[in-house]
Amino acid sequence: MGIETKIGVVTVSDRASRGEYEDRGGPAVVEYLKETVTSQVQLITSVIPDETGLIEAKLVELCDVDHCDLVITTGGTGPAIRDVTPEATENICDKMMPGFGELMRQVSLTKVPTAILSRQVAGIRSSETGGTLIINLPGSPKAIAECLDAVFAAVPYCIDLIGGSFLETSPDRIVAFRPKQK
Ligand code: MTE
Repeated sequence: MGIETKIGVVTVSDRASRGEYEDRGGPAVVEYLKETVTSQVQLITSVIPDETGLIEAKLVELCDVDHCDLVITTGGTGPAIRDVTPEATENICDKMMPGFGELMRQVSLTKVPTAILSRQVAGIRSSETGGTLIINLPGSPKAIAECLDAVFAAVPYCIDLIGGSFLETSPDRIVAFRPKQK
C-alpha cells in the first residue's frame, strides 16, 4: 500500500484537445481534489479527443503504467454521436461499479433535469500490483462537484479494497466512510 495516492484526471473533449476552447472540466476536478483530499496526492492530468481508442489507451496507461489508484474522466458521457467515454471505460475495466453512476445521476437530477442524459459509469481495472477505480463525470464544470459530492465518501474505502493507498479527506468537505474492520 503506497503512501501517496496517484490520481489521473482526463478531460475528454474534441474541442479542448484541439485548443478551440479552454479546458474547464479538468481544472474543476483538480480543484475539487485539492480541496477535499488531505493525504499526499500526485495528479496526472491530460486532455484527449472523443476517440474510443485514444480514451482506452490513456486509461490503460494511467492504470497499468502509472499505477493510479483513481482516475476521474470528465466529458463525453452524453448522447451525442462522439460521446464514447462510458464505452471506452467499460471496454478496459474488469468489473463495473454501477452504484456510482446510479447515485451520481440520482443526485444530479435534483439539480438539473438533463442529468438523465449522462451515461456516466465507474469501474475497476485490476493489475498484478493492484486496481484502479475509474469514475466518469459529465463535462460541465458545475457537474463535477455535484457528482463527486454524491459518491466521494465511498471512494477511499473502495481504493482500500482494491489494494490502493490510504486516501484521507477533509471532514469539512467529505467524511470518508470506512466500515469497522472485523
Ligand atoms: N449532471 C450534473 N450534476 N450537472 C449538469 O449540469 N449536465 C447534463 C448531464 N449531467 C449535468 C449533469 C448534461 S446537459 C449532459 S448533455 C450530460 O450530463 C452529458 O454531459 P457530457 O457529454 O459533457 O459528459
